[in-house]
Amino acid sequence: MYPRPCTIAGVSAPVPLSHPEPPLGEGEIELRPWEDGDLDAMVAMCRDPDVARFTRVPDPYSEADARAWIDAQPGRLEAGEGLTFAITAGGGPPMGSVGLRIDPGDRDIAEAGYMVAPDARGRGLATTALRLASRWGLRDLGLARVHLTTHLENAASQRVAERAGFRREGVLRSWEEIGGERTDLVMYSLVAADL
Ligand SMILES: CC(C)(COP(=O)(O)OP(=O)(O)OC[C@H]1O[C@@H](n2cnc3c(N)ncnc32)[C@H](O)[C@@H]1OP(=O)(O)O)[C@@H](O)C(=O)NCCC(=O)NCCS
Repeated sequence: MYPRPCTIAGVSAPVPLSHPEPPLGEGEIELRPWEDGDLDAMVAMCRDPDVARFTRVPDPYSEADARAWIDAQPGRLEAGEGLTFAITAGGGPPMGSVGLRIDPGDRDIAEAGYMVAPDARGRGLATTALRLASRWGLRDLGLARVHLTTHLENAASQRVAERAGFRREGVLRSWEEIGGERTDLVMYSLVAADL
């Protein structure tokens, strides 16, 4: 269990994060930090049209975007902002990504995000990775709630959330500006009491 942040006037101070050791895994699947050598895998994944449509990655996506993002990860850990795992199998290159972003306004809450490369989809990778990361966040980081939002049209992502044990809470109307338009999103959550 991580030390709980101290609270001053209702605002909790960030606590540095670190990747679990041994790494999270199940069967062949292992969640490890993103590394310098993963640049090409990140670029290929983030250039997929569904990733551009359904996530907040820059569009168009450049090698410089990937480099900046990978370089930023140690600083995100140190600042307690969140952490992102590469989804790998059998020691191979990343096939996907799953992350937890700590809510700066309430550090007991994290937002989960995930993506899987097109040629690795439909094998349960996102479901397993989300299940592992969210439960680790609740049990080991001591989070109270992990939540995620997904587009109404993103049936695969909604299925992933449900299969990973998240509960659908409802539709958040006009929740986020995506592609220049206010967009409705579906909110899912997993809370400590669900475990
Ligand atoms: C969403 C995404 C991460 C799923 O990754 P994945 O590894 O293929 O997911 P899984 O294999 O664990 O599970 C996918 C589930 O969705 C189902 N599914 C896939 N496409 C579907 C569709 N069009 N309609 C309904 N269900 C669908 C699959 O059958 C599977 O369910 P099942 O296990 O009951 O058979 C992947 O499609 C992706 O990266 N999309 C683009 C980025 C994105 O949307 N990220 C999430 C943002 S909230």
